Amino acid sequence: MKQLGILLSGRGSNFEAIARNVASGKIANARIAIVISNRSDAGGIATAKGLGLETLVIPSKGKERQAHDREVVAALQAHKVDLVCLAGYMRLLSPWFVKQFPQRILNIHPSLLPAFPGLEAQQQAFAYGVKVAGCTVHFVDEELDHGAIVVQRAVLVHDDDDEHTLAKRILEQEHSAYTQAIDLVLNREWTVAGRRFFQMQKSEVRMQKSE
Ligand code: GAR
Repeated sequence: MKQLGILLSGRGSNFEAIARNVASGKIANARIAIVISNRSDAGGIATAKGLGLETLVIPSKGKERQAHDREVVAALQAHKVDLVCLAGYMRLLSPWFVKQFPQRILNIHPSLLPAFPGLEAQQQAFAYGVKVAGCTVHFVDEELDHGAIVVQRAVLVHDDDDEHTLAKRILEQEHSAYTQAIDLVLNREWTVAGRRFFQMQKSEVRMQKSE
């Protein structure tokens, strides 16, 4: 059984979808070991408590980045977390944090990266006038919204969309893309070559195992 650690800062709808899909078995072989927020008022923390999950608030305000990250990493390690899932965690991780979990931190971002990194990606995309928007689940590296891409989903922009209707359709895709990516990373054989994430075919897995 793999242990998931969820980091969030707000509403927590991606976390909720993950929790639902862990419970239903869509994300196989996993349990949520801990839900951590840097904000005590995060809706996701209230939801997690309601679900009977272990929660922790580690306030980031006024703390130096790495000092805060050390507290978060200590909590993740104490809960023997195998995979860290950033679910609307609005803080940049320090390079030191990233090094503690190599290829074991996922993030979801509401754009087709590398377009529109940073804040309010859906609004940025809408204002730019794109015809195709979407979301990306990627490994976290030292740069913002940058690591190898695990899953992407495209969302067509309709003529009668506004930024809210578009963001809503992107969010629906986020919920299922994150579940797909977590299940893939936990339960399939995969490799990363440069920036490219590949799911290995059964024959490649057999070959590697007999080597
Ligand atoms: C989601 O749209 C997520 O993709 C985005 O924040 C929202 C959190 O919603 N994350 C980022 O922009 C990270 N760069 P949620 O709290 O309901 O999951």
